[in-house]
Amino acid sequence: MSKFVKKIKIKKPDDWHVHLRDNNILNKVIKYTGKFYKRAIIMPNLDNPITNCLKGISYRNRILNAMHVNYEFQPLMTCYLTRSTIPQELELGFSKKIFIAAKFYPDCATTNSKTGIKKISDITSVLECMERIGMPLLIHGEEICQNIDIYDREAKFIEKTLDPLRNKFPKLKIVLEHITTKESIEYIKKNDFNYLSATITPHHLILNRNDMFSGGIQPYLYCLPILKKYTHQIALRKAISQGDKHFFLGSDTAPHFHKNKINIFGCAGIFNAPSSLLSYVEVFEEMNALKHLESFCSENGPKFYNMPINKETITIVKKPCRIVKRINVGKDVIIPFLSGKTLRWSLDDKC
Ligand code: DOR
Ligand code: ZN
Repeated sequence: MSKFVKKIKIKKPDDWHVHLRDNNILNKVIKYTGKFYKRAIIMPNLDNPITNCLKGISYRNRILNAMHVNYEFQPLMTCYLTRSTIPQELELGFSKKIFIAAKFYPDCATTNSKTGIKKISDITSVLECMERIGMPLLIHGEEICQNIDIYDREAKFIEKTLDPLRNKFPKLKIVLEHITTKESIEYIKKNDFNYLSATITPHHLILNRNDMFSGGIQPYLYCLPILKKYTHQIALRKAISQGDKHFFLGSDTAPHFHKNKINIFGCAGIFNAPSSLLSYVEVFEEMNALKHLESFCSENGPKFYNMPINKETITIVKKPCRIVKRINVGKDVIIPFLSGKTLRWSLDDKC
């Protein structure tokens, strides 16, 4: 595909990493995911995390009720692993298709991870069960320890936790979520993509850690894993532009109220649902790699999860698209990533 492409038709994408929150936030943000994506993996880190089948069913219903009637959207639910997770609960949830995967948050790694995992050996029986039934494990891959530099946490996690885990459970299907470093890319590529794949966010493709401090500290660019050096950003861009099957779309869209972003303890998370797909298109265009856009957005994910590739298509056209400036939620407000900015591509005629 040449640089002069004006119109792209691809199978409808899926977003394999989404935070929708609940109640009034859910009701306001969900349409942005439904507009661009057919399916989404829903993260379970609510204030009251989704730790069992009943909670999963009821959260799924709240999501479906909140979705705009025009969008045929399928939420794919995940179970939050704690040291009390019972293998039988996961097995039941997976066999009944209540849960598609389970999420491993290291203790205190990020938003609502206080009941995350302190030692991976605490969930050995759960991992054995997941490997046996083929249930994917989704990992927030950061080694959390006061003495490990925040910029090194992902690389350390591979060395200290992920590699031993792969050796112990070689047939466990794992997604290393929102990877940010060249070490992750190199490690992932060495593994069979049926057993180890990774999602990549738009913000880690567009930004590096300089952006976080450009013209003053920018709380809206604070996310976890934290933005890394330019060299890592370039490595991520290169990885997706080579069309490697190990990598697929996971936006990590993560809304927080403005008052919680701009705070002495500001929350980590970038709400990118209004712009995520169009940002990915820009990156692929800049990398002269539009021919690999469809596999990244619509094919590699379902192949990993053993799900059908969507039949519907979407058309993206070279027409400026202005990203919504703010979203009011009662008296509160959520400011999206790239708020008020104009992107080069739009979803055909209804941006
Ligand atoms: O920046 C992040 N925000 N990273 C995460 O891992 C969680 C997310 C959230 O839930 O806010
Ligand atoms: Zn996330």
